[in-house]
Amino acid sequence: MEIKHICCIGAGYVGGPTMAVLAQKCPHLRITIVDANPEKIQAWNSDDLQNLPVFEPGLADIIQKVRGKNLFFSTDIDKSIQEADTLFISVNTPTKTYGKGKGMAADLKFVELCVRKIAEVSKDRKIVIEKSTIPVKTASLIKTILEQSDSKVEFHVLSNPEFLAEGTAVENLVNPDRVLIGGESMEAIEALSKVYENWIPKEKIITTNLWSSELSKLVANAFLAQRVSSINAISELCEATGANIAEVAKAVGSDSRIGPKFLNASVGFGGSCFQKDLLNLVYIARSYNLDAVADYWEQVLIINNHQKKRFADQIVKKLYNTLADKKIGVLGWAFKKDTNDTRESPAIYVSHDLLNEQAVLQIFDPKVKKQRIYEDLESLTDKDYDLNTQVQVFQDPYEALHEVHAIAVLTEWEEFKELDWEKIYKNMRKPAFIFDGRRLLTDKNLQDLGFKYYVIGGE
Ligand code: NAD
Ligand code: UGA
Repeated sequence: MEIKHICCIGAGYVGGPTMAVLAQKCPHLRITIVDANPEKIQAWNSDDLQNLPVFEPGLADIIQKVRGKNLFFSTDIDKSIQEADTLFISVNTPTKTYGKGKGMAADLKFVELCVRKIAEVSKDRKIVIEKSTIPVKTASLIKTILEQSDSKVEFHVLSNPEFLAEGTAVENLVNPDRVLIGGESMEAIEALSKVYENWIPKEKIITTNLWSSELSKLVANAFLAQRVSSINAISELCEATGANIAEVAKAVGSDSRIGPKFLNASVGFGGSCFQKDLLNLVYIARSYNLDAVADYWEQVLIINNHQKKRFADQIVKKLYNTLADKKIGVLGWAFKKDTNDTRESPAIYVSHDLLNEQAVLQIFDPKVKKQRIYEDLESLTDKDYDLNTQVQVFQDPYEALHEVHAIAVLTEWEEFKELDWEKIYKNMRKPAFIFDGRRLLTDKNLQDLGFKYYVIGGE
Protein backbone atom coordinates (compact mmCIF):
# COMPACT_ATOMS: atom_id res chain seq x y z
CA MET A 1 0.00 0.00 0.00
CA GLU A 2 1.47 3.35 -0.99
CA ILE A 3 0.01 6.83 -0.60
CA LYS A 4 0.29 8.91 -3.76
CA HIS A 5 -2.82 10.99 -4.07
CA ILE A 6 -4.50 12.65 -1.11
CA CYS A 7 -7.85 14.38 -0.77
CA CYS A 8 -8.45 16.40 2.38
CA ILE A 9 -12.08 17.23 3.16
CA GLY A 10 -12.25 20.54 5.06
CA ALA A 11 -10.18 23.60 4.11
CA GLY A 12 -10.15 25.21 7.55
CA TYR A 13 -7.55 25.98 10.20
CA VAL A 14 -6.39 22.35 10.18
CA GLY A 15 -6.94 21.23 6.58
CA GLY A 16 -5.28 24.31 5.02
CA PRO A 17 -1.99 24.49 6.95
CA THR A 18 -1.63 20.70 7.42
CA MET A 19 -1.92 19.92 3.72
CA ALA A 20 0.21 22.92 2.72
CA VAL A 21 3.12 21.64 4.82
CA LEU A 22 2.51 18.07 3.62
CA ALA A 23 2.64 19.29 0.01
CA GLN A 24 5.85 21.20 0.66
CA LYS A 25 7.57 18.29 2.38
CA CYS A 26 6.32 15.65 -0.08
CA PRO A 27 6.59 17.06 -3.62
CA HIS A 28 5.92 13.56 -4.99
CA LEU A 29 2.39 13.58 -3.50
CA ARG A 30 -0.59 15.18 -5.23
CA ILE A 31 -2.94 16.77 -2.70
CA THR A 32 -6.39 18.26 -3.23
CA ILE A 33 -8.25 20.09 -0.48
CA VAL A 34 -12.01 20.30 -0.89
CA ASP A 35 -14.63 22.17 1.05
CA ALA A 36 -18.40 22.53 1.03
CA ASN A 37 -17.94 26.31 1.23
CA PRO A 38 -17.13 27.62 -2.27
CA GLU A 39 -16.14 31.10 -1.03
CA LYS A 40 -13.47 29.55 1.16
CA ILE A 41 -12.06 27.58 -1.78
CA GLN A 42 -12.11 30.72 -3.88
CA ALA A 43 -10.19 32.59 -1.18
CA TRP A 44 -7.59 29.80 -0.94
CA ASN A 45 -7.17 30.04 -4.73
CA SER A 46 -6.97 33.84 -4.73
CA ASP A 47 -3.85 35.78 -5.71
CA ASP A 48 -4.38 37.96 -2.65
CA LEU A 49 -2.13 35.91 -0.35
CA GLN A 50 -2.58 38.42 2.47
CA ASN A 51 -6.24 37.45 2.75
CA LEU A 52 -6.19 33.68 2.77
CA PRO A 53 -9.01 32.19 4.92
CA VAL A 54 -6.44 31.30 7.59
CA PHE A 55 -3.76 33.68 8.82
CA GLU A 56 -0.71 31.81 10.12
CA PRO A 57 2.87 33.08 10.14
CA GLY A 58 4.74 31.49 7.20
CA LEU A 59 1.66 29.94 5.59
CA ALA A 60 1.22 32.33 2.67
CA ASP A 61 4.81 31.68 1.52
CA ILE A 62 4.25 27.93 1.47
CA ILE A 63 0.93 28.29 -0.35
CA GLN A 64 2.61 30.41 -2.97
CA LYS A 65 5.24 27.73 -3.53
CA VAL A 66 3.04 24.62 -3.71
CA ARG A 67 -0.35 25.83 -4.95
CA GLY A 68 -0.97 24.70 -8.51
CA LYS A 69 2.08 22.40 -8.36
CA ASN A 70 1.10 19.56 -6.02
CA LEU A 71 -1.52 21.29 -3.84
CA PHE A 72 -4.94 22.14 -5.25
CA PHE A 73 -8.11 23.62 -3.79
CA SER A 74 -11.38 22.46 -5.29
CA THR A 75 -15.14 22.39 -4.78
CA ASP A 76 -15.49 19.19 -6.78
CA ILE A 77 -15.72 16.89 -3.79
CA ASP A 78 -16.89 13.71 -5.57
CA LYS A 79 -14.18 13.77 -8.22
CA SER A 80 -11.45 14.61 -5.70
CA ILE A 81 -12.50 11.70 -3.48
CA GLN A 82 -12.58 9.32 -6.44
CA GLU A 83 -9.13 10.31 -7.65
CA ALA A 84 -7.44 9.94 -4.25
CA ASP A 85 -6.13 6.80 -2.58
CA THR A 86 -6.15 8.49 0.84
CA LEU A 87 -8.77 10.75 2.41
CA PHE A 88 -8.26 13.03 5.38
CA ILE A 89 -11.44 14.11 7.16
CA SER A 90 -10.64 17.58 8.61
CA VAL A 91 -14.10 19.01 9.06
CA ASN A 92 -15.34 20.86 12.12
CA THR A 93 -16.71 18.91 15.10
CA PRO A 94 -18.34 21.64 17.21
CA THR A 95 -20.31 21.21 20.42
CA LYS A 96 -23.89 20.12 19.71
CA THR A 97 -26.40 22.96 19.90
CA TYR A 98 -29.52 20.79 19.78
CA GLY A 99 -31.02 17.49 20.92
CA LYS A 100 -29.35 14.83 23.02
CA GLY A 101 -26.03 16.02 24.42
CA LYS A 102 -26.83 19.67 23.58
CA GLY A 103 -24.09 21.96 24.92
CA MET A 104 -21.79 19.03 25.74
CA ALA A 105 -21.36 16.33 23.09
CA ALA A 106 -19.44 16.76 19.84
CA ASP A 107 -21.65 17.24 16.80
CA LEU A 108 -20.53 14.58 14.34
CA LYS A 109 -22.94 15.50 11.57
CA PHE A 110 -20.21 16.94 9.32
CA VAL A 111 -17.97 13.90 9.85
CA GLU A 112 -20.85 11.56 9.10
CA LEU A 113 -21.75 13.48 5.93
CA CYS A 114 -18.15 13.08 4.72
CA VAL A 115 -18.15 9.37 5.46
CA ARG A 116 -21.44 8.84 3.64
CA LYS A 117 -20.10 10.79 0.67
CA ILE A 118 -16.93 8.65 0.65
CA ALA A 119 -19.01 5.48 0.81
CA GLU A 120 -21.25 6.73 -2.01
CA VAL A 121 -18.65 7.82 -4.56
CA SER A 122 -15.58 5.63 -3.94
CA LYS A 123 -14.75 3.11 -6.64
CA ASP A 124 -11.47 1.67 -5.39
CA ARG A 125 -9.54 1.03 -2.17
CA LYS A 126 -9.17 4.00 0.20
CA ILE A 127 -7.38 4.82 3.41
CA VAL A 128 -9.81 6.99 5.40
CA ILE A 129 -8.15 9.12 8.08
CA GLU A 130 -9.81 10.89 11.00
CA LYS A 131 -7.92 14.18 11.30
CA SER A 132 -10.78 15.99 13.05
CA THR A 133 -10.97 15.69 16.82
CA ILE A 134 -13.74 13.25 17.59
CA PRO A 135 -15.08 11.26 20.57
CA VAL A 136 -13.39 7.96 21.35
CA LYS A 137 -15.07 5.14 19.39
CA THR A 138 -15.99 7.30 16.38
CA ALA A 139 -13.95 5.03 14.12
CA SER A 140 -16.43 2.23 14.76
CA LEU A 141 -19.23 4.47 13.43
CA ILE A 142 -17.10 5.31 10.38
CA LYS A 143 -16.27 1.67 9.73
CA THR A 144 -19.90 0.60 10.03
CA ILE A 145 -21.09 3.19 7.50
CA LEU A 146 -18.30 2.35 5.06
CA GLU A 147 -18.61 -1.42 5.40
CA GLN A 148 -22.37 -1.39 4.97
CA SER A 149 -22.33 0.78 1.87
CA ASP A 150 -23.18 -0.74 -1.53
CA SER A 151 -19.78 0.13 -2.96
CA LYS A 152 -17.99 -3.06 -1.83
CA VAL A 153 -14.78 -1.03 -1.82
CA GLU A 154 -12.01 -1.90 0.67
CA PHE A 155 -11.62 0.82 3.32
CA HIS A 156 -8.89 1.15 5.95
CA VAL A 157 -9.78 3.55 8.77
CA LEU A 158 -7.01 5.33 10.68
CA SER A 159 -6.99 7.93 13.44
CA ASN A 160 -4.34 10.63 12.98
CA PRO A 161 -5.26 13.53 15.27
CA GLU A 162 -3.72 16.96 14.79
CA PHE A 163 -1.83 18.69 17.60
CA LEU A 164 -0.93 22.01 15.95
CA ALA A 165 -1.68 25.21 17.84
CA GLU A 166 -2.91 28.24 15.96
CA GLY A 167 -0.38 31.02 15.51
CA THR A 168 2.42 28.44 15.44
CA ALA A 169 0.80 25.95 13.05
CA VAL A 170 3.57 25.91 10.44
CA GLU A 171 6.28 25.51 13.07
CA ASN A 172 4.30 22.74 14.80
CA LEU A 173 3.71 20.89 11.53
CA VAL A 174 7.31 21.16 10.36
CA ASN A 175 8.69 20.04 13.70
CA PRO A 176 5.98 18.26 15.70
CA ASP A 177 6.56 16.81 19.18
CA ARG A 178 4.98 13.63 17.84
CA VAL A 179 2.72 12.23 15.17
CA LEU A 180 0.05 9.83 16.39
CA ILE A 181 -1.39 7.13 14.18
CA GLY A 182 -4.02 4.73 15.49
CA GLY A 183 -5.43 1.86 13.50
CA GLU A 184 -5.99 -1.83 12.96
CA SER A 185 -4.53 -2.21 9.48
CA MET A 186 -0.74 -2.43 9.77
CA GLU A 187 -0.44 -1.88 6.02
CA ALA A 188 -2.33 1.41 6.21
CA ILE A 189 -0.47 2.56 9.34
CA GLU A 190 2.84 1.92 7.59
CA ALA A 191 1.75 3.74 4.45
CA LEU A 192 0.79 6.85 6.42
CA SER A 193 3.91 6.62 8.57
CA LYS A 194 6.04 6.56 5.39
CA VAL A 195 4.49 9.87 4.32
CA TYR A 196 5.44 11.56 7.62
CA GLU A 197 8.89 9.97 7.55
CA ASN A 198 9.68 12.29 4.62
CA TRP A 199 10.54 14.93 7.22
CA ILE A 200 9.81 13.61 10.70
CA PRO A 201 12.16 11.20 12.53
CA LYS A 202 10.58 7.77 12.86
CA GLU A 203 10.96 7.75 16.65
CA LYS A 204 8.51 10.66 16.84
CA ILE A 205 5.80 8.64 15.11
CA ILE A 206 3.69 6.86 17.72
CA THR A 207 1.38 4.07 16.65
CA THR A 208 -1.49 2.82 18.83
CA ASN A 209 -4.85 1.16 18.54
CA LEU A 210 -7.73 3.29 17.24
CA TRP A 211 -9.31 4.07 20.59
CA SER A 212 -6.06 5.12 22.29
CA SER A 213 -5.34 7.52 19.46
CA GLU A 214 -8.82 9.05 19.48
CA LEU A 215 -8.83 9.42 23.26
CA SER A 216 -5.25 10.76 23.46
CA LYS A 217 -6.21 13.80 21.41
CA LEU A 218 -9.01 14.74 23.81
CA VAL A 219 -6.78 14.07 26.81
CA ALA A 220 -3.88 16.16 25.45
CA ASN A 221 -6.20 19.15 25.09
CA ALA A 222 -7.73 18.51 28.50
CA PHE A 223 -4.25 18.48 30.15
CA LEU A 224 -3.24 21.69 28.37
CA ALA A 225 -6.46 23.46 29.31
CA GLN A 226 -6.08 22.20 32.87
CA ARG A 227 -2.65 23.82 33.10
CA VAL A 228 -4.08 27.17 32.05
CA SER A 229 -6.92 26.88 34.54
CA SER A 230 -4.47 25.83 37.26
CA ILE A 231 -2.30 28.90 36.77
CA ASN A 232 -5.36 31.13 36.37
CA ALA A 233 -6.84 29.84 39.63
CA ILE A 234 -3.58 30.73 41.37
CA SER A 235 -3.55 34.15 39.66
CA GLU A 236 -6.58 35.13 41.71
CA LEU A 237 -4.86 33.99 44.88
CA CYS A 238 -1.80 36.04 43.90
CA GLU A 239 -3.94 39.16 43.51
CA ALA A 240 -5.47 38.55 46.93
CA THR A 241 -2.18 37.93 48.71
CA GLY A 242 0.39 40.18 47.03
CA ALA A 243 2.22 37.30 45.38
CA ASN A 244 3.13 37.65 41.70
CA ILE A 245 1.93 34.93 39.31
CA ALA A 246 4.94 35.27 36.98
CA GLU A 247 7.28 34.68 39.91
CA VAL A 248 5.17 31.76 41.17
CA ALA A 249 5.02 30.24 37.66
CA LYS A 250 8.79 30.53 37.32
CA ALA A 251 9.44 28.96 40.70
CA VAL A 252 6.95 26.16 40.15
CA GLY A 253 7.81 25.57 36.47
CA SER A 254 11.52 25.23 37.24
CA ASP A 255 10.75 21.80 38.65
CA SER A 256 11.61 19.60 35.67
CA ARG A 257 8.65 17.37 36.48
CA ILE A 258 6.31 20.35 36.01
CA GLY A 259 8.12 22.30 33.28
CA PRO A 260 7.95 26.00 32.39
CA LYS A 261 5.68 25.97 29.33
CA PHE A 262 1.98 26.85 29.18
CA LEU A 263 1.96 28.59 32.56
CA ASN A 264 1.02 32.09 31.41
CA ALA A 265 -1.85 33.49 33.46
CA SER A 266 -4.49 35.08 31.28
CA VAL A 267 -8.01 36.36 31.05
CA GLY A 268 -8.94 32.75 30.27
CA PHE A 269 -8.33 30.32 27.47
CA GLY A 270 -10.26 30.57 24.23
CA GLY A 271 -10.06 28.89 20.87
CA SER A 272 -12.26 26.48 19.05
CA CYS A 273 -11.06 23.38 20.82
CA PHE A 274 -10.23 23.46 24.55
CA GLN A 275 -13.79 24.10 25.67
CA LYS A 276 -15.44 21.83 23.11
CA ASP A 277 -13.02 18.97 23.75
CA LEU A 278 -13.36 19.27 27.53
CA LEU A 279 -17.15 19.31 27.26
CA ASN A 280 -16.91 16.26 25.06
CA LEU A 281 -14.61 14.46 27.54
CA VAL A 282 -16.99 15.27 30.40
CA TYR A 283 -19.93 14.03 28.32
CA ILE A 284 -18.16 10.78 27.46
CA ALA A 285 -17.21 10.18 31.11
CA ARG A 286 -20.82 10.78 32.21
CA SER A 287 -22.12 8.48 29.50
CA TYR A 288 -20.03 5.70 31.11
CA ASN A 289 -21.44 6.75 34.55
CA LEU A 290 -18.02 8.01 35.62
CA ASP A 291 -19.33 11.06 37.48
CA ALA A 292 -16.22 11.67 39.61
CA VAL A 293 -14.09 11.74 36.45
CA ALA A 294 -16.57 14.04 34.71
CA ASP A 295 -16.73 16.44 37.69
CA TYR A 296 -12.95 16.61 37.88
CA TRP A 297 -12.57 17.76 34.24
CA GLU A 298 -15.60 20.01 34.36
CA GLN A 299 -13.85 22.08 37.02
CA VAL A 300 -11.29 23.19 34.40
CA LEU A 301 -14.11 24.90 32.51
CA ILE A 302 -15.67 26.34 35.65
CA ILE A 303 -12.39 28.10 36.51
CA ASN A 304 -12.04 29.36 32.93
CA ASN A 305 -15.50 30.92 32.94
CA HIS A 306 -14.83 32.37 36.38
CA GLN A 307 -11.59 33.96 35.14
CA LYS A 308 -13.30 35.77 32.25
CA LYS A 309 -16.14 36.92 34.49
CA ARG A 310 -13.95 38.17 37.30
CA PHE A 311 -11.83 40.18 34.86
CA ALA A 312 -14.93 42.02 33.60
CA ASP A 313 -16.21 42.41 37.17
CA GLN A 314 -12.92 43.98 38.20
CA ILE A 315 -13.20 46.60 35.46
CA VAL A 316 -16.67 47.54 36.69
CA LYS A 317 -15.52 47.67 40.29
CA LYS A 318 -12.42 49.80 39.64
CA LEU A 319 -14.41 52.21 37.46
CA TYR A 320 -16.52 53.11 40.50
CA ASN A 321 -19.20 50.48 39.86
CA THR A 322 -20.63 52.11 36.78
CA LEU A 323 -19.67 51.82 33.15
CA ALA A 324 -22.76 53.51 31.75
CA ASP A 325 -21.68 55.60 28.72
CA LYS A 326 -18.00 55.20 29.63
CA LYS A 327 -15.70 54.39 26.73
CA ILE A 328 -13.50 51.33 27.03
CA GLY A 329 -10.74 50.64 24.50
CA VAL A 330 -10.45 46.93 23.72
CA LEU A 331 -7.03 45.84 22.48
CA GLY A 332 -7.22 42.46 20.81
CA TRP A 333 -10.10 40.27 19.68
CA ALA A 334 -8.41 37.05 18.50
CA PHE A 335 -8.25 34.23 21.07
CA LYS A 336 -4.44 34.45 21.03
CA LYS A 337 -1.79 36.34 19.12
CA ASP A 338 -0.75 35.55 15.53
CA THR A 339 -4.13 34.23 14.42
CA ASN A 340 -7.29 35.75 12.94
CA ASP A 341 -9.38 33.10 14.70
CA THR A 342 -11.85 34.44 17.28
CA ARG A 343 -13.72 31.28 18.20
CA GLU A 344 -14.48 31.26 21.94
CA SER A 345 -12.14 34.22 22.38
CA PRO A 346 -12.28 35.58 25.95
CA ALA A 347 -12.57 39.04 24.35
CA ILE A 348 -16.11 38.16 23.24
CA TYR A 349 -17.30 37.27 26.73
CA VAL A 350 -15.53 40.09 28.55
CA SER A 351 -16.93 42.58 26.01
CA HIS A 352 -20.40 41.12 26.39
CA ASP A 353 -20.29 41.72 30.15
CA LEU A 354 -18.99 45.28 29.70
CA LEU A 355 -21.68 46.04 27.11
CA ASN A 356 -24.37 44.74 29.44
CA GLU A 357 -23.08 47.37 31.91
CA GLN A 358 -23.84 49.95 29.18
CA ALA A 359 -20.21 50.64 28.34
CA VAL A 360 -19.24 51.91 24.88
CA LEU A 361 -16.50 49.76 23.34
CA GLN A 362 -13.83 50.96 20.90
CA ILE A 363 -12.16 47.85 19.56
CA PHE A 364 -8.91 47.22 17.70
CA ASP A 365 -7.35 43.96 16.52
CA PRO A 366 -4.56 43.82 13.91
CA LYS A 367 -5.93 40.75 12.10
CA VAL A 368 -9.63 40.34 12.88
CA LYS A 369 -12.12 41.91 10.48
CA LYS A 370 -14.82 44.29 11.70
CA GLN A 371 -17.64 42.08 10.45
CA ARG A 372 -16.30 39.12 12.44
CA ILE A 373 -16.37 41.16 15.67
CA TYR A 374 -19.99 42.19 15.12
CA GLU A 375 -20.97 38.61 14.24
CA ASP A 376 -19.28 37.27 17.39
CA LEU A 377 -21.23 39.67 19.58
CA GLU A 378 -24.43 39.17 17.59
CA SER A 379 -24.27 35.42 18.20
CA LEU A 380 -24.56 35.74 21.99
CA THR A 381 -27.78 35.50 23.94
CA ASP A 382 -28.77 37.65 26.99
CA LYS A 383 -27.81 40.86 25.19
CA ASP A 384 -28.97 43.88 27.11
CA TYR A 385 -27.29 46.31 24.70
CA ASP A 386 -27.36 47.91 21.29
CA LEU A 387 -24.43 46.94 19.09
CA ASN A 388 -24.98 49.87 16.72
CA THR A 389 -24.54 52.55 19.33
CA GLN A 390 -22.25 50.77 21.81
CA VAL A 391 -19.62 49.15 19.58
CA GLN A 392 -17.13 50.73 17.21
CA VAL A 393 -14.30 48.88 15.49
CA PHE A 394 -11.17 50.79 14.43
CA GLN A 395 -8.30 50.09 12.07
CA ASP A 396 -5.91 52.23 14.04
CA PRO A 397 -5.11 51.52 17.69
CA TYR A 398 -4.64 55.19 18.58
CA GLU A 399 -8.10 56.04 17.26
CA ALA A 400 -9.58 53.13 19.21
CA LEU A 401 -7.98 54.40 22.41
CA HIS A 402 -8.82 58.07 21.91
CA GLU A 403 -10.67 59.59 24.88
CA VAL A 404 -11.41 56.24 26.51
CA HIS A 405 -11.79 55.90 30.28
CA ALA A 406 -10.06 52.54 30.37
CA ILE A 407 -8.22 50.01 28.21
CA ALA A 408 -8.68 46.25 28.35
CA VAL A 409 -5.81 44.21 26.85
CA LEU A 410 -7.41 40.95 25.77
CA THR A 411 -4.99 39.46 23.21
CA GLU A 412 -1.21 39.36 23.62
CA TRP A 413 -0.29 40.85 20.20
CA GLU A 414 3.41 41.82 20.39
CA GLU A 415 2.75 45.08 18.55
CA PHE A 416 0.72 46.41 21.50
CA LYS A 417 3.96 46.58 23.46
CA GLU A 418 5.39 48.98 20.89
CA LEU A 419 2.54 51.49 21.08
CA ASP A 420 3.35 55.02 22.22
CA TRP A 421 1.86 54.72 25.70
CA GLU A 422 2.71 58.30 26.61
CA LYS A 423 0.69 59.58 23.67
CA ILE A 424 -2.17 57.20 24.54
CA TYR A 425 -2.18 58.42 28.14
CA LYS A 426 -2.39 62.05 27.04
CA ASN A 427 -5.48 61.36 24.93
CA MET A 428 -7.38 59.38 27.56
CA ARG A 429 -9.93 60.47 30.16
CA LYS A 430 -8.45 60.65 33.66
CA PRO A 431 -7.96 58.69 35.80
CA ALA A 432 -6.68 56.52 32.97
CA PHE A 433 -7.06 52.79 33.67
CA ILE A 434 -5.41 49.81 31.99
CA PHE A 435 -6.61 46.27 32.70
CA ASP A 436 -4.02 43.88 31.33
CA GLY A 437 -5.58 40.45 30.85
CA ARG A 438 -2.42 39.03 29.26
CA ARG A 439 0.38 40.41 31.46
CA LEU A 440 1.64 41.95 28.22
CA LEU A 441 2.66 45.37 29.50
CA THR A 442 4.18 44.51 32.88
CA ASP A 443 7.59 45.95 32.00
CA LYS A 444 6.31 49.20 30.49
CA ASN A 445 6.27 51.11 33.79
CA LEU A 446 2.83 52.40 32.96
CA GLN A 447 2.24 53.68 36.50
CA ASP A 448 5.15 56.07 36.00
CA LEU A 449 3.31 57.55 33.00
CA GLY A 450 0.27 58.16 35.21
CA PHE A 451 -1.84 55.11 34.40
CA LYS A 452 -3.74 53.10 36.98
CA TYR A 453 -2.47 49.69 35.90
CA TYR A 454 -4.17 46.43 36.91
CA VAL A 455 -2.74 43.16 35.72
CA ILE A 456 -4.09 39.65 36.01
CA GLY A 457 -2.06 37.73 38.60
CA GLY A 458 -0.68 40.75 40.47
CA GLU A 459 2.27 43.08 39.93
P1 NAD B 1 -12.81 24.85 10.50
O1 NAD B 1 -14.20 25.19 10.84
O2 NAD B 1 -11.78 25.92 10.37
O3 NAD B 1 -12.78 24.05 9.11
C1 NAD B 1 -13.65 22.99 8.83
C2 NAD B 1 -14.05 23.08 7.36
O4 NAD B 1 -14.80 21.91 7.01
C3 NAD B 1 -14.96 24.27 7.03
O5 NAD B 1 -14.35 25.07 6.05
C4 NAD B 1 -16.26 23.63 6.54
O6 NAD B 1 -16.87 24.36 5.49
C5 NAD B 1 -15.78 22.28 6.04
N1 NAD B 1 -16.82 21.26 5.99
C6 NAD B 1 -17.71 20.92 6.95
N2 NAD B 1 -18.47 19.90 6.53
C7 NAD B 1 -18.06 19.58 5.29
C8 NAD B 1 -18.46 18.58 4.36
N3 NAD B 1 -19.43 17.69 4.66
N4 NAD B 1 -17.85 18.53 3.17
C9 NAD B 1 -16.85 19.42 2.88
N5 NAD B 1 -16.42 20.36 3.73
C10 NAD B 1 -17.02 20.44 4.93
O7 NAD B 1 -12.33 23.78 11.56
P2 NAD B 1 -10.82 23.50 12.06
O8 NAD B 1 -10.43 24.50 13.07
O9 NAD B 1 -9.97 23.28 10.87
O10 NAD B 1 -11.01 22.13 12.84
C11 NAD B 1 -11.26 20.93 12.15
C12 NAD B 1 -11.11 19.78 13.12
O11 NAD B 1 -9.75 19.71 13.58
C13 NAD B 1 -11.97 19.87 14.38
O12 NAD B 1 -12.38 18.60 14.74
C14 NAD B 1 -11.00 20.43 15.42
O13 NAD B 1 -11.36 20.01 16.72
C15 NAD B 1 -9.71 19.78 15.01
N6 NAD B 1 -8.51 20.53 15.38
C16 NAD B 1 -8.46 21.88 15.22
C17 NAD B 1 -7.29 22.57 15.52
C18 NAD B 1 -7.20 24.05 15.35
O14 NAD B 1 -6.17 24.61 15.72
N7 NAD B 1 -8.18 24.74 14.83
C19 NAD B 1 -6.16 21.86 15.96
C20 NAD B 1 -6.25 20.48 16.10
C21 NAD B 1 -7.42 19.83 15.80
C1 UGA C 1 -4.65 23.99 21.31
C2 UGA C 1 -3.51 23.01 21.61
O1 UGA C 1 -2.39 23.73 22.11
C3 UGA C 1 -3.12 22.25 20.35
O2 UGA C 1 -2.14 21.27 20.67
C4 UGA C 1 -4.34 21.57 19.77
O3 UGA C 1 -4.02 20.90 18.56
C5 UGA C 1 -5.41 22.60 19.50
O4 UGA C 1 -5.74 23.29 20.74
C6 UGA C 1 -6.70 22.02 19.02
O5 UGA C 1 -6.98 20.85 19.22
O6 UGA C 1 -7.45 22.83 18.46
P1 UGA C 1 -4.83 26.41 20.24
O7 UGA C 1 -6.17 26.40 20.88
O8 UGA C 1 -4.73 26.74 18.81
O9 UGA C 1 -4.16 24.96 20.40
O10 UGA C 1 -3.85 27.39 21.00
P2 UGA C 1 -3.12 27.32 22.44
O11 UGA C 1 -1.78 27.88 22.29
O12 UGA C 1 -3.23 25.99 23.05
O13 UGA C 1 -3.96 28.37 23.29
C7 UGA C 1 -5.29 28.10 23.71
C8 UGA C 1 -5.75 29.19 24.64
O14 UGA C 1 -5.09 29.11 25.89
C9 UGA C 1 -5.50 30.60 24.11
O15 UGA C 1 -6.59 31.44 24.40
C10 UGA C 1 -4.27 31.04 24.88
O16 UGA C 1 -4.16 32.42 25.00
C11 UGA C 1 -4.51 30.36 26.21
N1 UGA C 1 -3.27 30.13 26.97
C12 UGA C 1 -2.33 29.28 26.51
C13 UGA C 1 -3.08 30.79 28.18
O17 UGA C 1 -3.94 31.56 28.62
N2 UGA C 1 -1.93 30.56 28.88
C14 UGA C 1 -0.97 29.72 28.43
O18 UGA C 1 0.06 29.55 29.13
C15 UGA C 1 -1.17 29.06 27.22
